[in-house]
Amino acid sequence: MRLMLVIGTRPQIIKSAPIIREAKKHKEIELQLIHTGQHYDFEMSRIFFNEMELPDPLVNLNVGSGTHAWQTGNMMVKLEQTMLSQKPDIVVVPGDTNSTIAGALTASKLQLPVAHVESGARSYDLRMPEEVNRRLTDHCSSLLFAPTKNCAENLTAEGLPRNCIRVSGDTMYDALLQHAPAASKTDIVKKLELQSEEYATLTLHRPENVDNPSNLMKIAKALITLKQLTIVFPAHPRTKQCLDAANLLTKIEAISHIKLIDPLGYHEMLQLTKHARMVLTDSGGLQKEAFWLHTPCITLRDRTEWIETTQLGVNTLVGSSPQKIVRAAREIMITSSVKSKLEKLRNPFGDGRAAERILAEMLKRR
Ligand code: UD1
Repeated sequence: MRLMLVIGTRPQIIKSAPIIREAKKHKEIELQLIHTGQHYDFEMSRIFFNEMELPDPLVNLNVGSGTHAWQTGNMMVKLEQTMLSQKPDIVVVPGDTNSTIAGALTASKLQLPVAHVESGARSYDLRMPEEVNRRLTDHCSSLLFAPTKNCAENLTAEGLPRNCIRVSGDTMYDALLQHAPAASKTDIVKKLELQSEEYATLTLHRPENVDNPSNLMKIAKALITLKQLTIVFPAHPRTKQCLDAANLLTKIEAISHIKLIDPLGYHEMLQLTKHARMVLTDSGGLQKEAFWLHTPCITLRDRTEWIETTQLGVNTLVGSSPQKIVRAAREIMITSSVKSKLEKLRNPFGDGRAAERILAEMLKRR
């Protein structure tokens, strides 16, 4: 079975690592790893291949950054050539990025079967490009690997056939378990001169927050107000550009309780999250990682696709409202033994064997 796996961004490399490892165990699988080049900086891509000991992609399409249509269209043109020459039996697309929809749409137009990993997640907010990407990807895929029961229910509610849907668990959780020992060996907490549980980890990169100067200003105001809290902020390259454009970069850099740093690799990021008092983020993946690492999360969005975490009471949605951000953070700061409460919660995202199930199902249906 020629299995083409299309990736392009930082979170997709993480989600795919357990699938790549599992594929290597099956002699009957020929893995064709394709990188679209959506992410290209060392700390957005290569570092994850190195840390996770992944094979080099068979092809890197080097598409790079651009507008959504330009980026997605260019990926499709290049992916079509690649699929025609590599002749995969199945195309696997993880997540919800422009690389995901480009892979799914190109394959479906070539009448190749598509498997979507992380299928059925829904924020019901069509302003987010990811929501459009994940819905369209689900509707042109023939195998839908839902990380949770709730995701599977979202798919059936949209009329997708039950025999295409499998609750596999979340490959991001597989990855976290596989890399927890290496993560615990990093000394990032010490290196940044932090004390365990006495700081917050912040990430920010969603267009609705960073491309919108008014929202960016509101979030910055909340962060500046939270003087009693050390905030570690590994900033995405687009976020740095947006902060600079809004004349906020030098201002944030000058604030003593905010540590603005370059993006971190996977192991250091896991360790930084594990030891944080709380996470502040607009990322999808980090909301789940915070939960698995027993760190409460404040999500700087109005909606989330991971309602499993809000339903368990460990993730608070605050949008970009400075009052709500500050209130939520202060509440966590004064609440004791939050981590021990989180440790006792059930995990709706599987048992760390999602990749094993995904590969077994694909082989069964071959
Ligand atoms: C993309 C995904 C998002 C995912 C995120 C993870 C889409 C629509 N968005 O968002 O779902 O959560 O990746 O990080 O697919 N840039 C660099 N170096 C890089 C990559 C990007 O400097 O290696 C800068 C460029 O200025 C670029 C901007 O970041 O224009 C945005 O990159 P892009 O890939 O379009 O979107 P992300 O914000 O990374």
